[in-house]
Amino acid sequence: MNNGYLKVEHAQALTGQVELVGAKNAVLVIIASLVLTAGKSVLHNVPVSADVLEMIELLRHLGAVIFFDTEKHMLTVDTSLVRSWTVSSTIMQKTRASILIMGALLARFGKAHVGLPGGDAIGKRPIDYHVKNFAKMGVSIRSEADCLYAEVDMLSAARIILEYPSVGATENILMAATRAHGVTKIINAACEPEVLDLIAVLQKMGARIVVETPATIIVEGVDFLHPVEHHIMFDRLEAGSLLMAVAATGGEIYLSQASADLLDVVLLKLEEMGHSITVGSDGKGIHLKATSTPQAVSFKTGPFPGFPTDLQAPMMALQCLATGTSIIEETVFENRFHHAYELQKMGASIKIEYNKAIVTGVEYLYGTQVSASDIRASTALVIAGMIAHGTTTVLGVHHWKRGYEALEKKLQHLGAVISLHEADVLHGPLPGIQKEQATP
Ligand code: EPZ
Repeated sequence: MNNGYLKVEHAQALTGQVELVGAKNAVLVIIASLVLTAGKSVLHNVPVSADVLEMIELLRHLGAVIFFDTEKHMLTVDTSLVRSWTVSSTIMQKTRASILIMGALLARFGKAHVGLPGGDAIGKRPIDYHVKNFAKMGVSIRSEADCLYAEVDMLSAARIILEYPSVGATENILMAATRAHGVTKIINAACEPEVLDLIAVLQKMGARIVVETPATIIVEGVDFLHPVEHHIMFDRLEAGSLLMAVAATGGEIYLSQASADLLDVVLLKLEEMGHSITVGSDGKGIHLKATSTPQAVSFKTGPFPGFPTDLQAPMMALQCLATGTSIIEETVFENRFHHAYELQKMGASIKIEYNKAIVTGVEYLYGTQVSASDIRASTALVIAGMIAHGTTTVLGVHHWKRGYEALEKKLQHLGAVISLHEADVLHGPLPGIQKEQATP
């Protein structure tokens, strides 16, 4: 059990401007994709978060030589010495994104022997779309004791139909298809901005990829891919979380690096609450000025450009003190309301009915000890802590650190009273911290 925690006090109106880091969900798959090439690549705007460090370790485990200049957020990755296609369960279990190494290894070596991935407990998170569509490309896959043994003499192109536009399955098949024999078509593909950032990197490597509407990606296999230099896109989920944190405290913020077109539905919902949003003339730069009388809004999560499931939890925290009732429908993951039970401990009025959460605005929230079960849940609980009376202790800080690069420091810069307390592995729970109860 990780007993590090965040301590959050009631905040005055957060105000100011902060820099955004590169997108976690883009850089993780892009680091994996570098195995497609044999040589030195350079990535800029790479966030220093725990999941990114785990992905770097995974590539080192395969033989890559990596230098991470964390000051400059610059990652130099030399994959010419990558000789292995085996990744143990221990390493794979550390992140969900680890599964994304499969497509790259199959394309480079025709083999991938990997354990099953880990990741947030927000649903069953099977990998059946990955496995069955690799099989369509000629890959034989044997599963034994939590490991997958995937092998192929020559990847062949295929017409791939995804029953759901899975981000991970799209990315894995995409990477395999770059070196497959012939033209692969991925129908009902995920077109999240992070997927498009991956495609930009693959095209720079020399891959032949075209994105067509509706949600169709066409890949013509090539014989060779070369190393690249790339600037990772901004993190729209960090941007969305910051906008929501500031809105919750009645403040004002300007995010110069954020592009509105990657957050359209989120901005629409914040405006419906009564917050004023201004966007730069070229769609770049988002300014939010919060209203003092927020109205509750309802929303439904879905694939991009719909409302992102990764902002569902922070947006739920925002509804807790809003006037009226909000109905939140989670359609992407079947078990992504853990944070709701923790918000109830703080006095929020939330009813869960299957994949819907009904939030009725209350007058106050009260600080107490709560526990984050995943990255985005930790954000929701920090936001709730900033609008609650008294002190809130958020356990499970390792989730926060997996998803963000020192987000607490950016909140401090905006005026929040928040502190991160590292796990004390030697002495167990810290003074005043009650032993963690199992979440319902
Ligand atoms: C990516 O996860 C992101 N993670 C998630 O962000 C994000 O929530 C998710 O996409 C949706 O946007 C990374 O990019 C590392 P999916 P992924 O495959 O690829 C089902 C965060 O907080 N499914 O699009 O795992 C699946 O169970 C994280 O940063 C299958 O049934 O998501 C889910 O219900 C959390 N079979 C739905 O599809 C499969 O083979 C969407 O999953 C694959 C997926």
